[in-house]
Amino acid sequence: MTWLITGGAGYIGAHVVRAMTEAGERAVVYDDLSTGVAARVPAEVPLVRGSVLDADRVARALAEHGITGVVHLAAKKQVGESVQRPLHYYRENVEGLRVLLEAVTAAQVPSFLFSSSAAVYGMPDVDLVTEETPCRPLSPYGETKLAGEWLVRAAGRATGMATAALRYFNVAGAAAPELADTGVSNLVPMAFERLSQGAAPRIFGDDYPTPDGTCVRDYIHVADLAEAHVTVARALRSAPGTDLTLNIGRGEGVSVREMIDRVNAVTGYDRPPTVTPRRPGDPARVVASAARIATELGWQAKYDVQDMIASAWEGWVRVHPEAARS
Ligand SMILES: NC(=O)c1ccc[n+]([C@@H]2O[C@H](COP(=O)([O-])OP(=O)(O)OC[C@H]3O[C@@H](n4cnc5c(N)ncnc54)[C@H](O)[C@@H]3O)[C@@H](O)[C@H]2O)c1
Repeated sequence: MTWLITGGAGYIGAHVVRAMTEAGERAVVYDDLSTGVAARVPAEVPLVRGSVLDADRVARALAEHGITGVVHLAAKKQVGESVQRPLHYYRENVEGLRVLLEAVTAAQVPSFLFSSSAAVYGMPDVDLVTEETPCRPLSPYGETKLAGEWLVRAAGRATGMATAALRYFNVAGAAAPELADTGVSNLVPMAFERLSQGAAPRIFGDDYPTPDGTCVRDYIHVADLAEAHVTVARALRSAPGTDLTLNIGRGEGVSVREMIDRVNAVTGYDRPPTVTPRRPGDPARVVASAARIATELGWQAKYDVQDMIASAWEGWVRVHPEAARS
């Protein structure tokens, strides 16, 4: 099969491209390079530069490359920015997806895999979040991901296209230093940035009802996440008409304080964090039940948070060599 990987020049997309090609699948990247980096795309993988909002360009790419499956990662992903610019997020993430689906269904592409997010759950009040936990997103970003799931599922039901929505929990790490996350919107790179600047890492609130008072999250190594895409892509191919919704996490809660302690140990900075007030809208605990994908498809994560932080630090030091301690 030949997979069109939208957003394949991004942090997660580049890992998906690598995992798919290593597994023997053909890949074509479709990316507008708004936040992506062309150098992340392997030389042997064609890169089509364009927006998913450009219907003609998408249709041409599908036809010219004989696309038989789509992995749709292209999106805007900053929760805070989505609150400031909701119309932009709805346009990019929902209208972009609608335009893409129109072209994909017209071309009768049989498989479609969609990047969703744990942000669809909002503030779940359960120990382990299952795919049946009610979705109550708290931001326009989370809303666009939930609306995206609806669009994908409806298009699949109407046409027989096999579909999957993967709800990623907190993604971290890198399979190779050059593929590391270059943004600083997640906890690990945020802590690296503060330490590199000679500042203490920040903890937003230590008065949550959790064992150490800081928020608890479920971290997933991006290489594991990429492997999950390969597993799901193959499941779609072998079962036309499938409609999957799957959490991608490890089912293990790690607190912000534990993560910062590990960041200090890995980087050698050993600088105690400062505690600032809670950020509005941060849930105390969001941890996946990873049971459904394990039971239905036999996939489970291999890497732990130590692997995530160590590999992310190698990538950080590659871009910021002055941050290295020795
Ligand atoms: N990083 C996370 O922790 C996380 C968690 C849950 C879900 N997700 C989802 O995973 C996907 C990938 O996220 P990422 O962290 O790799 O982000 P990223 O910003 O690194 O990658 C997004 C890619 O999409 C491209 N893109 C954006 N808008 C486009 C458009 N209109 N047309 C074509 N290309 C476009 C960008 O250039 C970039 O290469 C997103 O859908 C995001 O919402 C990410």
